[in-house]
Amino acid sequence: MERRPFGPTKREVSVLGQGTWHIERADRGTAIAALRRGLDRGMTHIDTGEMYGEGFAEEMVGRAIAGRRDGVFLVSKILPQHASRSGTIAACERSLGRLNTDRLDLYLLNWRDNVRLEETIAGFDHLKREGKILAWGVSNFDVPDLEAVRYIAGDGQLACNQVLYNLAERGIEHLVIPWCERYGVAVVAYSALHHGRFPEPRSPGGRVLQQIAAAHRATSRQVALRFLVRHPSVFAIPKASTPEHTN
Ligand SMILES: NC(=O)c1ccc[n+]([C@@H]2O[C@H](COP(=O)([O-])OP(=O)(O)OC[C@H]3O[C@@H](n4cnc5c(N)ncnc54)[C@H](OP(=O)(O)O)[C@@H]3O)[C@@H](O)[C@H]2O)c1
Repeated sequence: MERRPFGPTKREVSVLGQGTWHIERADRGTAIAALRRGLDRGMTHIDTGEMYGEGFAEEMVGRAIAGRRDGVFLVSKILPQHASRSGTIAACERSLGRLNTDRLDLYLLNWRDNVRLEETIAGFDHLKREGKILAWGVSNFDVPDLEAVRYIAGDGQLACNQVLYNLAERGIEHLVIPWCERYGVAVVAYSALHHGRFPEPRSPGGRVLQQIAAAHRATSRQVALRFLVRHPSVFAIPKASTPEHTN
């Protein structure tokens, strides 16, 4: 699995990671086996959040990474309604408990909403000083929101912006990716497989993908993911709840 430096952290992180939204809806043992298979295959960036299954996904991730925490780039997210300074610290403690770990590699604000960013960033800074998070970032931020973060935190603090990016949703290519590349911020593509609505093989787009895949002895989904991570700043976190899909 290819790795590349993750924004200002400079840590080498797998270009493909693993998402966990709705993973709690799958058979628990199978979904945990899928995450472990993904780790075996080098997809060591695991993305979760306090929202997913109201904490249940974090607990499943905790089981999946038991005994191999040091080999994982572990990411969780805080909901905006918890993102005051003290709320951020408390939410992180709850996530750490469910994940059964002492630290997150990255902690993200899930979306902006009416959050006072100064408060959230103060919470992130506190957690970073305590060693409970190693880096922090945001999700679903457009350029004006990113500028607001930069104004408060300065350069080199914001590690990542996790955003919607797939073959049908390429809006971030216009302004968000250029902004992130300019300021050295990692971009993480979510719903990279269209959140389960990947082009059918018999659709026009699906046929083109299959032709490209056949030429490269790959699958259509592998072609799509490879296309997204062609930018040096971009990582992708497809979600699979069976080991077969992880392959
Ligand atoms: N920050 C945010 O606001 C935000 C929003 C959305 C998502 N995310 C993160 O990004 C992750 C990925 O996005 P997503 O969950 O929306 O969807 P996704 O990764 O675009 O698609 C997941 C779907 O693809 C299927 N799939 C995966 N591998 C497959 C394969 N080899 N063959 C056939 N089907 C396959 C999965 O099926 P099975 O489940 O049956 O394996 C699932 O239905 C999330 O899990 C979450 O961690 C973040």
